[in-house]
Amino acid sequence: MKIDFSKRSSIPSVFDTETHQLYVPSDITIEEVAVRRLKDMRSLFLDAQGYEDDLPLYYMYNGIYREKHRDFFKGQNIKYEYTVLLDTLINQEHIKAHGHIHGYNEVKKARHIEAYEILHGEGYFELFKFEGNVVKVVMIHTKPGDFFIVPSDYYHLSINTGTEPYIFGDLIIEGAGNDYGYLKEMQGAPLFALYDGQRTVFRENATYKDYVIEILHTDVDSLPWENPVDPIPLYAHFITHPEKFEFLR
Ligand SMILES: [Fe+2]
Repeated sequence: MKIDFSKRSSIPSVFDTETHQLYVPSDITIEEVAVRRLKDMRSLFLDAQGYEDDLPLYYMYNGIYREKHRDFFKGQNIKYEYTVLLDTLINQEHIKAHGHIHGYNEVKKARHIEAYEILHGEGYFELFKFEGNVVKVVMIHTKPGDFFIVPSDYYHLSINTGTEPYIFGDLIIEGAGNDYGYLKEMQGAPLFALYDGQRTVFRENATYKDYVIEILHTDVDSLPWENPVDPIPLYAHFITHPEKFEFLR
């Protein structure tokens, strides 16, 4: 199957689910293509036994721009990216990203913010942060056409709960300094998303047993923070109105 998410992203883009190739026009540069395989995050799944180390989980396409916008992006010091999360189950657990927290913005004395747009598929963004012995989890159920931010100070990861690749775009400052260590240490996020044969259910990660886990289930229309992202494709919006994305700096 070929997934064409050109309209939502504003860049002609097709992902082939058989070859795992992303097709973009020849005037589009993608600075870095990376794949995360099961061996890179085996310990973050509830049970990954029986699956090969080389199994691809997701693809990252970082630094995407049209040749004519190269200087613009370099001047802005912000990059546009895609992520394609595949849709296989790992012993009933939905495929997810590793998850991380961003480095500090030295000017604001806060961690970097990231802007997201959902381009295809169905899934969740799991965000969490600590307040004393409480871990506050926000599970954002998304749909294509959603726009939102990950605020400062939240660990975050995406989970594909659909039956097709879950594809999203993001804008983030260059050199955001992603830290993956804590999620490795804790063997994943506070909640695992499992498929029980009929629907998605969530199970708490026992590694967090010393914390009280508070969970808010929401969608992008009811987020407990201001949403500064207009519902316009991130790439098209950023190149025409970079001033609207000052919150990324
Ligand atoms: Fe991030």
